[in-house]
Amino acid sequence: MAWMWTCLKVIAFAIFSLTVKMNDVWHPISELPVGCAHDALPGNHSGIKVLIIGLAKCGTRTICHALNEVGVRAYHSEDFHFLPWWDFVHDVRKEGGPHAQLPAALLAQEMLQDQALAGRLMQKISKCRMGAVALDGLEILTEPIIKHSPGAKVIVLNWRTFPEWKKSLEKFIPKLVVMCLHNLFTGASLGLLPWLALLRPLDRLLSSPVEGVLREGGPPITEVSGPLMWMYHQSLNHRRQYECWAEPTTTVYPESEDDFKSFYADTMKHFSKDDIFEWDPRKNTMTELCKFLGIEPCPKTGKVPRAINTWIFERDFPIAAQAVIVLRFFLYWVNWKLFAALLSALMRCFRKSKSE
Ligand SMILES: *[C@@H]1O[C@H](CO)[C@@H](O)[C@H](O)[C@H]1NC(C)=O
Repeated sequence: MAWMWTCLKVIAFAIFSLTVKMNDVWHPISELPVGCAHDALPGNHSGIKVLIIGLAKCGTRTICHALNEVGVRAYHSEDFHFLPWWDFVHDVRKEGGPHAQLPAALLAQEMLQDQALAGRLMQKISKCRMGAVALDGLEILTEPIIKHSPGAKVIVLNWRTFPEWKKSLEKFIPKLVVMCLHNLFTGASLGLLPWLALLRPLDRLLSSPVEGVLREGGPPITEVSGPLMWMYHQSLNHRRQYECWAEPTTTVYPESEDDFKSFYADTMKHFSKDDIFEWDPRKNTMTELCKFLGIEPCPKTGKVPRAINTWIFERDFPIAAQAVIVLRFFLYWVNWKLFAALLSALMRCFRKSKSE
């Protein structure tokens, strides 16, 4: 029976830790200043030169890696959530105006009508100087971004049929849920007590591997993530990213073949034929990518290697990930010891006051 009691206590402690983390109790002291540091471009131009239009599971990650390899700073949606998107949401919420209470997804929807709001997001985007972006999970921002990126080209990932895509997505969603829960639960030890607040002085001590990237806007965290950046990014995911996926969502999820086709067609009609590349990751090559973008000489040749799609941050940055996971469990142990000590001190006080 004793083991069951211990088990229950451990579960209760993990849930308690998660609750504290999700309420962002320590964020005011652990979050680094938000926002990339470049000057915004004039006229609310996003500065984006290549848009990647593809639903999740259509190879957005693969093409982002390829673009970075040929020298275009391509943001995958995680990078976008983590930097300009959060800079924007944070700003709107801080100033407390009419949009401050909106969930992130409704704020995104609002941008379809509200030009001033869209303009503000574009300023945040251009401050990060990203050359390309894949908006899977943020499809709702496609229109406003196209509107503010005149002269951009588009890579369209419409190579999968609707049934193929649907099957792939349905297989992926349960995995995604497990990955998110894993990140939330293991990461909760860093949210129960203000451990993350130690990151900033440590970062300064190590000549700013985190703050430097946050200001510069690169390299994208999906391309390069050292242990400190890994820890910081994963600790903020629930705020900056997961909120967008929850209902009401920023995601477009076509329910039928027609919806699926019109998602792509509606985007493509904003571009001239020469500015569209219907990319098929099974066939197209680096050389073709360079040619489309006018990059000469092309630094890479051959087929584009397929990107990892599950446990990406763990598998793309294994050393950073292992180091942080070990730290997370270690801090669970530390938190547990501290709370046990606190509890027994309280009990002693209570007994003493009763016996007096
Ligand atoms: C750019 O965005 C700002 C801030 O929202 C807005 O006030 C301004 O009118 C926009 N400028 C242009 C040229 O669209």
